[in-house]
Amino acid sequence: MEPSPLELPVDAVRRIAAELNCDPTDERVALRLDEEDKLSHFRNCFYIPKMRDLPSIDLSLVSEDDDAIYFLGNSLGLQPKMVRTYLEEELDKWAKMGAYGHDVGKRPWIVGDESIVSLMKDIVGAHEKEIALMNALTINLHLLLLSFFKPTPKRHKILLEAKAFPSDHYAIESQIQLHGLDVEKSMRMVKPREGEETLRMEDILEVIEEEGDSIAVILFSGLHFYTGQLFNIPAITKAGHAKGCFVGFDLAHAVGNVELRLHDWGVDFACWCSYKYLNSGAGGLAGAFVHEKHAHTVKPAMDDLQCDIKLKGNLFAYGQRRK
Ligand SMILES: Cc1ncc(COP(=O)(O)O)c(C=O)c1O
Repeated sequence: MEPSPLELPVDAVRRIAAELNCDPTDERVALRLDEEDKLSHFRNCFYIPKMRDLPSIDLSLVSEDDDAIYFLGNSLGLQPKMVRTYLEEELDKWAKMGAYGHDVGKRPWIVGDESIVSLMKDIVGAHEKEIALMNALTINLHLLLLSFFKPTPKRHKILLEAKAFPSDHYAIESQIQLHGLDVEKSMRMVKPREGEETLRMEDILEVIEEEGDSIAVILFSGLHFYTGQLFNIPAITKAGHAKGCFVGFDLAHAVGNVELRLHDWGVDFACWCSYKYLNSGAGGLAGAFVHEKHAHTVKPAMDDLQCDIKLKGNLFAYGQRRK
């Protein structure tokens, strides 16, 4: 039977197991999934570690020449084979012309980030002007919260999921403290029900409905780093907006992994890193998104620190200087 383009992974496994009349965990199911995978040729674009080169591998169980089965893209994506070529091109340019490399060549360094914005916009579903590639995720999260979290006595909370990624948790704590507020009162976490691992959408919506008037910012992850739960970004955004909250997302585990349409969903802001499912490598540039509706309303909090050389910068943070 032909797979449907909208088939869920779990349904594909069940369909193939039924066709092969075997258990879903049978190796033949995995091999058939590989055959059906229209993107499988991309596998050749990456270096796949060999079992022999990995620490903590029991070589009595696997052959040392086997490719590893790599499930660590949530930590660091595999190295694309072209990375070395690209890096060598830039190192050559640096060696040959030093600072002139800022302005010339295939990828002038001064606008190095902008050469990939047009690719990134489709991955997150944004307009080019709504995104900037810069810094690391946590720095971008701080910059965004500095602009969007403007607590008042009535509306002073940040709503997030319990067990958010630790650095997000600490970033939110420190932003609350920066405003002289009490973390106990202003950091509102939604927890899974007793005995459950993931959050129920109805529970998230209930908190927004009941406490929305006191919530300044809702900051959820798009996809939870530990449980793999994919949150309903458009529904959370809509519910937050109905209560007058700003709604932002940490997309570290969603970007390059699931379909995103930040602009159409009306998400206010988002940040992500590029070293997981985007395979940019450790230290790769992170991203930030601010919806165009805020271009003239939400003020950049760190105007004085913005980078003057980025005259063509896209994000609102740079916009003020371009008038
Ligand atoms: C969900 C999530 N948020 C934030 C971070 C921190 O990102 P960085 O240390 O690159 O700022 C990570 C890193 O793994 C993450 O998984």
